[in-house]
Amino acid sequence: MEKTQRGRLIVFEGLDGSGKGTQIAMLEEALRKQGRNVYVTAEPTASSTGGLLRDALGGHTRRDAYELSALFLADRIFHNVNPVNGMEQYISQGIDVLCDRYYYSSFAYQGMDADLEWVMKLNLDCREIRRPDLCIFLDVSPQQCDERIAKGRLSREIYETLETQQRIRARFFEVFDLLGDTENIRIINASRPADEIAGDIIRLLS
Ligand code: TYD
Repeated sequence: MEKTQRGRLIVFEGLDGSGKGTQIAMLEEALRKQGRNVYVTAEPTASSTGGLLRDALGGHTRRDAYELSALFLADRIFHNVNPVNGMEQYISQGIDVLCDRYYYSSFAYQGMDADLEWVMKLNLDCREIRRPDLCIFLDVSPQQCDERIAKGRLSREIYETLETQQRIRARFFEVFDLLGDTENIRIINASRPADEIAGDIIRLLS
């Protein structure tokens, strides 16, 4: 019997307002046109842990950075291996998974206030958490993201101030340096027209 080829896990990262949603939708369409099966997902997930996280992100419940790291970790394990719609199910059936945020966000966001090494170890040493085939970082200046957030929303989440976003962008780059060649990370200049960015991303995958 022929073995099914595994799908790929492609993760999108970037600051809030960096255009991840648009690029994920464009890549989904392009891959489908190539005849691939695609599943689009995001973190935090729709699980009950994801609900706790959204409450904290919205500023409704205050949580310590270590507690947030652990909750994101639990949500990520669920996201990988839960038997109903865990990413592992799709990947093993040959379906490409496009995921909006992953552990790099925990490193950059929680790693600002919690011990970065500890947050990295929690995620990278956990065998239930799959290493992505590719991480695409959409790089847009914090100022530009801030303008987009200001236009598009009535309220801001806890991390969505200009100063915090500047710190987070710097943290992402520190983390990418630390990870070096152990991960396949591509940084894309995302302050260009959406079609141009999408073209670059599709070329990366062919
Ligand atoms: P986001 O993709 O911006 O969702 P939305 O567009 O619905 O706001 O992600 C939500 C927030 O979660 C974002 O501010 C980053 C944060 N986050 C972390 O702090 N750590 C993590 O591990 C993840 C996955 C997200």
